[in-house]
Amino acid sequence: MSDFDLFNVDEAGRARAATHAQRCAAEAANIPDIPAGTLLRPIRKVAVIGAGTMGGGIAMSLANIGIPVTLLDASSQGLERGIGRVRDNYATSVKRGKLDAAAMDQRLGLIAGSLRMEDAADADLVIEAVFEDMALKQDIFRQLDALARPGAILATNTSGLDVDEIAAVTTRPQDVVGAHFFSPAHVMKLLEVVRGARTAPDAIATLMDLGRRMGKVAVLARIYPGFIGNALFRHYTREAHFLVEDGALPHEVDAALTKFGYAMGIFAVHDMAGNDVGYQTRKAQMATRPTDRRWNDLIMRLCDLGRLGQKSGKGWYRYEPGDRTPRRDPEVERFIVEESARMGIVRRPMSEEEILKRCLYGMVNEGARLLEKGIALRPGDIDITYLTGYGFPARHGGPMYLADRIGLDKVLADIRRLHAEHGHWWEPAPLLERLVAEGRSFGELQPAG
Ligand SMILES: NC(=O)c1ccc[n+]([C@@H]2O[C@H](COP(=O)([O-])OP(=O)(O)OC[C@H]3O[C@@H](n4cnc5c(N)ncnc54)[C@H](O)[C@@H]3O)[C@@H](O)[C@H]2O)c1
Repeated sequence: MSDFDLFNVDEAGRARAATHAQRCAAEAANIPDIPAGTLLRPIRKVAVIGAGTMGGGIAMSLANIGIPVTLLDASSQGLERGIGRVRDNYATSVKRGKLDAAAMDQRLGLIAGSLRMEDAADADLVIEAVFEDMALKQDIFRQLDALARPGAILATNTSGLDVDEIAAVTTRPQDVVGAHFFSPAHVMKLLEVVRGARTAPDAIATLMDLGRRMGKVAVLARIYPGFIGNALFRHYTREAHFLVEDGALPHEVDAALTKFGYAMGIFAVHDMAGNDVGYQTRKAQMATRPTDRRWNDLIMRLCDLGRLGQKSGKGWYRYEPGDRTPRRDPEVERFIVEESARMGIVRRPMSEEEILKRCLYGMVNEGARLLEKGIALRPGDIDITYLTGYGFPARHGGPMYLADRIGLDKVLADIRRLHAEHGHWWEPAPLLERLVAEGRSFGELQPAG
């Protein structure tokens, strides 16, 4: 990377990255086996099941484009809280002058709360956003199968469960699809549309079009753990955590990432989101995970110490009351150093360059794997996913575009070095090796069929 400056992108480079992003956003709508003229299913009314964080935001996204929504919850408390949050969000927009009061009333008028599943019966599209629990989601889809009108699209907002397993409990898997919104759903521009093995082309085309109408970029993904976005994100966070075990401190990793262009470093993000997000799932997975590779559980140890992040005043950093500024905390730094020693790791200083390579190249390698497996149709879909949903710095144009600019031969050389040094997680993706052998770039790939 020494002859490639990751930190400074000149005006012309920024303009090229912006053009690339625009092209990616436009191309994401093209699906090779679904012709542009595919007849869409009319979406006149939508039901959203689960009035939590996601359900409320999804309902707003729909009401914002004039579509009536029934927002359903199992508990009256959940429903009240959900509707209350929607009201508050609109009221904030009015206060900030982004929306006038009449428009707020009109949009609120389009969202009807309900506690009865039967009220989803006349919806053309149902979006399920209940807790991330397979049995619960399957139960909802069984009910929907029995009561939804024929031809209704049945979508799940799951962040990672297998959409085919959900579809399998219905008699209409062709109508079942993933609609992965990002939080807050009424703000975030990304919608991952997840195609099941049997999802009908017109259901996909309809959801992709609805995403566009809601002002979002809809990106098509196939079923895979974490789809496109979270699949890469796992590699990003894993390496950030290994870096901390290997010798960097959280503020050093975050400083390199913000210097690269992220608004926040990953440890500040963890503290903001709450270090306990995913704690239970992870704990459950620990017993059965493969033992031939390195894992990182520092974040769970922090939770066990009560260091949940901003909400508990301490996490990877410490926080003054009423102030969200992350401050270095000698206590957690001491703990990290002790943990490295406990694991038998000899800590060593990490350069900014090494930090970035490890955080970014794992994503590129996984991106290549997704392309090879056809999970993502084209490199640009991965780039636009990262630019719109994961705060990837706009000036770098997305991870795959960045890798092309650095030079895939250089990226691969580093991945091979990291593989030799760290093993399993860095095994080079065959597609990356092939592209380098052929002297080609991601940008020259044709979309997967
Ligand atoms: N929060 C995020 O950042 C995020 C992002 C993307 C996707 N998701 C996914 O979205 C889904 C919802 O997540 P969330 O954060 O909004 O959850 P949440 O806990 O905020 O809300 C879930 C809601 O579902 C309701 N509910 C539970 N069982 C129900 C039932 N049988 N019928 C009707 N309503 C029921 C609950 O009362 C609650 O109001 C999950 O699958 C999650 O993985 C979440």
